[in-house]
Amino acid sequence: MPANHLADLTTIIEDLDSAGRISHVTSEVDLDLQLAGVAAKLEGKPNAVMFHNVAGHEAPVFAGLYWSRDLLAHLLRRDEHELPQFVSGCIEQWQRSPVDPVVVDDGPILQGQSGLSLSDIPIPVHAQKDGGPYFDAGVVIATDPETGVRNASIQRFMVVDDRTLHVNIDAGRHLGLYLDKAREQKKSLFISINCGVGPGLHFAAATPAEAAPPDTDELGIASVFQDAPLELVKGKMTPTELVANAMYSIECEMIPGELGDEGPFAEVTGYYAKCEPRPVVRVRAIHARPNPIFQTILSGAEVWNSVGLLGEANVLATLKRQIPGVQDVYFTHGGCGFYHAVVSMQQKRAGWGKQAIMATFAAFPPLKMVTVVDDDVNIRDASDVEWSMATRLDAKAGIVTIDKVFGHGLNPGFPDYLGTKVGFDCTRPFPHSYEYDRADYRNVSLDDVVISNCAPGAQIADRGTDLQSADSSSTDSAQLTAHTAVAQTEKAQLQTGQVQADVTDNSAMSPGQAGSMHNMSMQTGSMQTMSMQAMSMQTAGSAHSARQGGLVLLVGKEGKKKYQRAAFDLFIDLEERTISSDVSFAFERARTAAEFVATLSAYRGRFSYLVLISGKKRGGVHFADELSAMDGLALGKLISTVCQQDSIQVILPGYLESMKRRARDLSKGKAISDVVVVDRSNSPDWTASLLDGYFRCLGSEGRLEVALKDSMPPAGRASAGIWKDGKAFTRIES
Ligand SMILES: Cc1cc2nc3c(=O)[nH]c(=O)nc-3n(C[C@H](O)[C@H](O)[C@H](O)COP(=O)(O)O)c2cc1C
Repeated sequence: MPANHLADLTTIIEDLDSAGRISHVTSEVDLDLQLAGVAAKLEGKPNAVMFHNVAGHEAPVFAGLYWSRDLLAHLLRRDEHELPQFVSGCIEQWQRSPVDPVVVDDGPILQGQSGLSLSDIPIPVHAQKDGGPYFDAGVVIATDPETGVRNASIQRFMVVDDRTLHVNIDAGRHLGLYLDKAREQKKSLFISINCGVGPGLHFAAATPAEAAPPDTDELGIASVFQDAPLELVKGKMTPTELVANAMYSIECEMIPGELGDEGPFAEVTGYYAKCEPRPVVRVRAIHARPNPIFQTILSGAEVWNSVGLLGEANVLATLKRQIPGVQDVYFTHGGCGFYHAVVSMQQKRAGWGKQAIMATFAAFPPLKMVTVVDDDVNIRDASDVEWSMATRLDAKAGIVTIDKVFGHGLNPGFPDYLGTKVGFDCTRPFPHSYEYDRADYRNVSLDDVVISNCAPGAQIADRGTDLQSADSSSTDSAQLTAHTAVAQTEKAQLQTGQVQADVTDNSAMSPGQAGSMHNMSMQTGSMQTMSMQAMSMQTAGSAHSARQGGLVLLVGKEGKKKYQRAAFDLFIDLEERTISSDVSFAFERARTAAEFVATLSAYRGRFSYLVLISGKKRGGVHFADELSAMDGLALGKLISTVCQQDSIQVILPGYLESMKRRARDLSKGKAISDVVVVDRSNSPDWTASLLDGYFRCLGSEGRLEVALKDSMPPAGRASAGIWKDGKAFTRIES
């Protein structure tokens, strides 16, 4: 038997119990509505539940294995947010190198009681109007009558009498396909229903057809999860295969065309599924392993977290292949776990939000709604998603509807599996202007903060750089006044080229936090500050050991749309290519002089190269207004003081002629070794290639000119200049 705890429900239960994650109900409960009623009260809580004292039965009943993502994360030894990625990784591994199940001679399922009838199993009646006792946690194993390929799926079965079940098979299910094939061959279809199996097999059974087509043995997915081949034994009465370590296995025969009333049943949608004629299942033999535990599933959160999680995993894998910038996917619980997908993406091109909507629908047909948001939105927080919709959705252009399309028949909006689907593109316009940037607060630690009368039990949210909603209304006016004062001081310093003091030590900040640096500098009055000398002492050691890194900084305010757009294109182009040299790059934006300083400070001591990209203003580079008023020398000093590095290359895309003086002055800055100026009238593609070439051949100065020329694509008018020690070192024309 495989050692992995995911292979067997007994080891799962032991594992959870030892972690205190099972609630034990020891008082007697009735199977008729009472057990499910108690379970419903505990649904979604962090613990699963074991009913030890079930009226009329020896065997306990277990529920809730999948109703909390947190519990699932514990089970899979993963962080909750990593689950879709982890699951899609397992499925991809199976697709690359499947490990088929093995049929063994014996297993626990053949070592307990046999010759049982359905009334010997503690099968509960779930909801008030349900048509009878139901079990819906059983994994059905069937074999394609034509190809012999195995399939695993989960269906709900209504108990009609001791030897008869009626089953619900949704449209498009492989079990329905097999039944149709058996009908054509005028044969019965034999299946086994395996109740109480490990999560690996449960996930294999819930894997959507889009990821596991009918010509593949999807039982192999279980082998990946449990890290060992799934073990089966042969049925005793029928040509079926049973899961060797299931709690209960039922050998059954389905005679195609034989129908009986099934339903109503409280479904995953929160509605009752209608009573209708559905396929009859004849029980031929029932086996129980020694000391069996019956597992049941309330069709709510448990289904959202199994069918939904597997759906998420498949959508994520598909989108990552097809849509640049997709980060994450979540099937919301308000959307019944598989009707509403929220997709997070970092936009790379305009229009891809809608591409993501279409690809998501194609990857998981039961979906009715798709919402696409930017990657600064927490897709697992409904109010954050709503915020994105309320502030970013263009209600005229951003809503996509598709009429009369296949959907999920259980959804009342899809009678006969036909209905309308809707996609919401809630991404910002691309490229976006600063109005669409989230307000953010400094990520402070509350360890040293004394707070009196803090409401008992109040959650103190970390509203730093995390994806939390930012409420700027709490910013008080005193703070704003301080902000203005400091910003003005900074401006004055910048204009005189004397940026010397009062820069908070942010060297511990991670790249990406630089955006919040502006806020930090506002509060310098109340915060501990250091002089540049003190900082240089502190960072002297690290300056030499700093990694080879580069900062690409998109500077400037809106300016003329056309130029800002060209600058943005170059920025995105570089970000996508992440220049293929050994240098690792960080990408940031700075719209004001204060942000410029703050960003450089945040990366102080961390980089050797600085690429400044800006929109263009006639006659010079259009930094933030204050910066464009500075002369090159002042700018050079500023860069060299905040960067604290021995050797910084600065690359400025701008008009070559107008940049000459600035470049010469810049390269006189004591820490700046060379300045490359790229003619901004060239395409982003050309500039990106040039910078790529530049970084590749750094360190081999003799070859610089040749290498740069080789790396440059042809362009009508294309030139670049390199200044060293205030002198033009080389100039390249293409
Ligand atoms: C608890 C649970 C109950 C389910 N009940 C049904 C059901 O009654 N009928 C059905 O067609 N699918 C049901 N499903 C969904 C299918 O098992 C799932 O979509 C599976 O991937 C179908 O397998 P197939 O693609 O091999 O056909 C259920 C899933 C879970 C997790």
